[in-house]
Amino acid sequence: MRRDHHHTSNDRDTKFRVGILAGSIILITLFHYTTGVGAHVQHAFHLFLRMAYMVPLIAAAIWFGMRGFFFTVIPICIFYGTHVAIQWQGQVAENMNQIVTLLTYVVIGLVSALLAQQVESQREARHRVERSRRRDLLLSAVENFSSALRWRDDQTERHCEQVAQLAEALAKKAGLSADRIELARLGGLLHDIGKIGVRDDILLKNGDLNEKERSHIHRHPVVAYEMIRHIEGAEDLAEVVLSHHEQLDGSGYPRGLKGNEIPFEAQIVSVADVYSALTEDRPYHSGMADDQALAYMHETRGNHLDGHLVDLLQSLVLPHKEMGDDVWIADSSD
Ligand SMILES: [Fe+2]
Repeated sequence: MRRDHHHTSNDRDTKFRVGILAGSIILITLFHYTTGVGAHVQHAFHLFLRMAYMVPLIAAAIWFGMRGFFFTVIPICIFYGTHVAIQWQGQVAENMNQIVTLLTYVVIGLVSALLAQQVESQREARHRVERSRRRDLLLSAVENFSSALRWRDDQTERHCEQVAQLAEALAKKAGLSADRIELARLGGLLHDIGKIGVRDDILLKNGDLNEKERSHIHRHPVVAYEMIRHIEGAEDLAEVVLSHHEQLDGSGYPRGLKGNEIPFEAQIVSVADVYSALTEDRPYHSGMADDQALAYMHETRGNHLDGHLVDLLQSLVLPHKEMGDDVWIADSSD
């Protein structure tokens, strides 16, 4: 949404600038053609107009780089050259001067475009460095959180790693951009990080929870949100983690979001989370078979989970299983 808005305002900006450039070049040219060449004061005005072409030329080079330079220097040279050929015919000394002016346009425009290009590439390099610095910071924060969870409850941490793998594969399969695939993966990795804030007697309890215990454990998305949202550049990640227990029909928690209100990456994490929870072996029960789990997700959880994502999951999981490949089972050898 925000990106689209930015895009259209950029487009408007570009059109506005092109309009200014074309308008000023046409205006200067009109003055050239309509101002006579007899009187001294008229001559002075022509000198001024000659210099005036520099303004759109340099502006175009700054705004649009080399392209801006080409698309302004060519019409300017044609318009001015024609004006000189017609209205200053036979005035050799003046013509020499005017030819040098044409060369000056080329040199000034070219130098401006080169300088603008250099400034732009420096800006891009700074931006790239800043982005990778943020990403490193975020990844190290994620790593720290994961290791904290591993010490607290290594089963939940293993579950998170499996969900991260699945969420990443689902996001790829759904055709998301690299940034969004990464967001789904990190969302999976951190989705249950808030369980660090759940009391041991509830977190590690084998068996059913009562109402009070359940509402205590239901705080974990909010706890996670509070842990993550202060990290620079992790606002989207915090949103995804906060929303991983929301359900399409609005019956989820903590906010009761519906349908598209739930970030898509959170829906991906949610599908991965449910599948992983259904299929993994717990100390007090063994996990469902894959096809059983998928059928359950389609039927019983049909109003909660995105059906298309469950289909994608099925296409990811079942072919592997038929080949006897256990890639989606978290490595439990340690
Ligand atoms: Fe959770």
